[in-house]
Amino acid sequence: MNQDLVAEIRSKIDIVDVISERIPLIAKGKNYFGVCPFHEDTHPSMSVSRDKQIYRCFSCGESGNVFNFVMKYDHKNFSEVIKELGERAGVDTKTVRIHQKDEKYNNLYEAYQLSQKYYQNNLYSKLGREARKYLETRKLEEETLKEFGVGLSLESDNDLTMLLKNKKYDVATLNQIGLSNDMHDVYKNRIMFPLYDPYGRIVGFSGRVYKDSNGGKYVNTKETVIFKKGNCLYHYHEAKDYCKSLKSVILVEGFMDVIRLSTIGIKNTVALMGTALTKEQTTLLTRLSNHIIICLDGDGPGKNAAKKIGENLFNMGIEVKIITIPNEEDPDSFILKNGKEKFLSLLEYAENYSDYKIHLLKENVNFQSEEELASYIHSVLLEASKIDDEIRQEIILKKLAKNYDIGYNTLEKRFKELNPKKKKQPEKIEVAKKSRKDKYQQAVEQIIYFMLNHDWVVDQVEKEKLVCPTNEERLLISEIIYFYKKNGYIDIADFFTFIQDKNDLLKLLNSIVSSNYQENVEKKNLFSYFHVVKDYSINQQKVRLQELMKEEKDPLEQAKIADQIRKLKLGDN
Ligand code: CTP
Ligand code: MN
Repeated sequence: MNQDLVAEIRSKIDIVDVISERIPLIAKGKNYFGVCPFHEDTHPSMSVSRDKQIYRCFSCGESGNVFNFVMKYDHKNFSEVIKELGERAGVDTKTVRIHQKDEKYNNLYEAYQLSQKYYQNNLYSKLGREARKYLETRKLEEETLKEFGVGLSLESDNDLTMLLKNKKYDVATLNQIGLSNDMHDVYKNRIMFPLYDPYGRIVGFSGRVYKDSNGGKYVNTKETVIFKKGNCLYHYHEAKDYCKSLKSVILVEGFMDVIRLSTIGIKNTVALMGTALTKEQTTLLTRLSNHIIICLDGDGPGKNAAKKIGENLFNMGIEVKIITIPNEEDPDSFILKNGKEKFLSLLEYAENYSDYKIHLLKENVNFQSEEELASYIHSVLLEASKIDDEIRQEIILKKLAKNYDIGYNTLEKRFKELNPKKKKQPEKIEVAKKSRKDKYQQAVEQIIYFMLNHDWVVDQVEKEKLVCPTNEERLLISEIIYFYKKNGYIDIADFFTFIQDKNDLLKLLNSIVSSNYQENVEKKNLFSYFHVVKDYSINQQKVRLQELMKEEKDPLEQAKIADQIRKLKLGDN
């Protein structure tokens, strides 16, 4: 790819803007900090530098420029990211060709794509009459059905199988995709909802019964190399932009809920496809927004799931709100019965998680019993102590005092016992237990870090003809020198792109950039690091010569080696 184009795009984009659209960043001094999305963490151990235009995580050692971040975070390849950020920067990227990722599975994606077209045609064919009637009774209009790519599988035994076979899919592949089984169609007489992966590619279907049929209400395509149910959230790829602009995401249980909400103009929604939330789905969800509104079914399982998921997300430090749908309805049936406005007001009055939990604590308490009342109050105080807002804590205490006629001071005393004054601790950055580096390695890395920050150090290192202990270190140094000669400047952010295909070097660069090396350098200081590295190389030579000496039989030759060793020790070589 054209390096000038890449550098131009990078110069017109600010890494702080791009990253803060994806994860919340807080300014602290010259830098910005956030919770690193590349490892499990709750501390803000990732720093983003506007000056250097790089990010680095002091905990997991991830680092890079804006392209590296977006590639990793959005799961895109380099050319895709260049195109996307290029367009945003107003740079002409017509010459950039996008290399399709995962090309080895392209035939699978194509099979699902073809099947979706086939199912969709069925729905609008003569044979789709009954299904269309059913969908009408469920108050779904054609526009909505098209928006979600809904289709229909027919009575026939092998129509889809034959269609795919004619497109050169062999029996093995047909069995693999879960739509065809030994030359028979898997889905019959079902409304077909395509399932998409986070990039918007169809990776399977969920088929719903609408008339007599075997099996469950919904049947999902079997899991394949490209589809794991627990790795998907329904509607994720479409919801992404809405969630960003609305700064929230609504989590529901089923497809129908997502689809119904879309008909009333609410599109920052994803569905669980069940009531459990896997770790992978949690990650996806928190990527959409750190303000999550849980809106599961109003029945027992839905309520339990809301509690469990809410607690989990709340403990991760996410802003959680809960909507409880009354009368065991789900969002779909609630909206059909009560209309858009009623749902909007549920949304408006969504409870934040701690209030919700305090309400839940009331359930099954016999307020006539002193013991039960005391224990209830104790649990409310405990819950309130988890809230990071003193005003809200006071409101809760006041309410308790009033509602149950208890002295405020008594409550406050108990509350303080539960909640020993937390000293405001400075945000702790957990530095990973990195493998300890010896002093030579540290010296080399410090020199490399200086080189990346100061042109003149690059010149100095070249003049010194420094010999470093490892191959990677030597290679990285020569790449830096090469970059500098070629471009006439040194810049860490651009250098990341320069070596992005060289994995070993990138790993070393990551490790250096994400360690706490000094940035400002004086000549004297630099030379002392040179000295350490030279020491190392002299020691190495000495060891080598001593080994030679042991093997040497000829006394004359031995004397020569001894002389060399002596000179080495004097630093005169
Ligand atoms: N589900 C499933 N298999 C089932 C039942 C449910 O995979 N046998 C998943 C589906 O993803 C469904 C979600 O769980 O969307 C919620 O289930 P449910 O509440 O029963 O479905 P609804 O969305 O209410 O669908 P409908 O209104 O069509 O009954
Ligand atoms: Mn439901």
